[in-house]
Amino acid sequence: MTKKHLIWDLPLRIFHWCFAFTIFGSWYTAENKDDYIDLHMQLGYVALGLIIFRVLWGIIGPKHARFSQFIPSPKTLITYLKKSDAKQATPGHNPLGALMVITMIILITLQAVSGLFIDDDIFSSGPYNGAVSDGIENIMSFIHHNTFNFMIAAIVMHISAIFFYWIIKKQNLVLPMITGKKSAKEVNASDAIPNSKLLLGIVIAVLCAGFVYWLVVINAPVIEDFYY
Ligand code: HEM
Ligand code: HEM
Repeated sequence: MTKKHLIWDLPLRIFHWCFAFTIFGSWYTAENKDDYIDLHMQLGYVALGLIIFRVLWGIIGPKHARFSQFIPSPKTLITYLKKSDAKQATPGHNPLGALMVITMIILITLQAVSGLFIDDDIFSSGPYNGAVSDGIENIMSFIHHNTFNFMIAAIVMHISAIFFYWIIKKQNLVLPMITGKKSAKEVNASDAIPNSKLLLGIVIAVLCAGFVYWLVVINAPVIEDFYY
């Protein structure tokens, strides 16, 4: 049996699949917002917590989760694009994939943060809706409604790229995102991470959840109810 090496840590993998589920859920509940607007906002808070987690994990997580490890310099990106042979397989994100990861994180941050300030013109509003002027609210509403289209485009490209690697380049990237491991044919033993830093991941996740709770429940300004 081919030896395998651990590349994606468990907290990153859990983050990924929770993130995909949450974003899909946010989309579905937004499309059916008349019935699900409360759930929509709750999923939005989860997305916000996951984003904060990922940013912190990108600083203190294991090797391949770190931004410093995978954000490419323009030179690395150009070299990668020029050489098209499959041998270029990188242990973590390849330079092009890394750009897409960063784009998705930025777009989803914009989406979740802008949601905090808007309302649906009926009964539901984000927790900071009452704390900003109409001008700011309009800008946030514009961001919330328009970023979504870019986000969908990025996600479609993300999933298409995964299938492109699978079918054309014969590289299955999905299995490693589930098991965490890549075969010794694809990566060297020196690329492997020693462990998932699971305890640290749990501590950071709890802190992120606590922070989001504080942000949207404890610290949110009380809005006078003007629907009589
Ligand atoms: C709403 C849907 C999705 C979002 C927002 C999303 C987001 C992301 C993000 C942010 C990463 C970077 C992981 C990290 O470093 O933290 C990533 C990687 C990855 N995603 Fe997704 N994802 C989605 C759906 C999917 C689906 C449906 C699949 C499987 C078909 C998938 C397969 C992968 C794989 C294989 C990687 C690792 C790519 C690599 O090896 O460089 N994703 N995704
Ligand atoms: C990343 C997560 C999020 C995604 C993908 C998302 C997506 C969307 C989309 C596409 C719409 C437009 C629905 C339509 O008009 O047909 C929408 C509306 C809305 N979202 Fe979000 N949202 C997210 C997070 C949030 C958060 C955190 C909040 C607030 C707590 C929020 C509050 C709202 C509200 C109040 C509306 C109704 C706006 C209106 O009717 O004009 N969203 N969301």
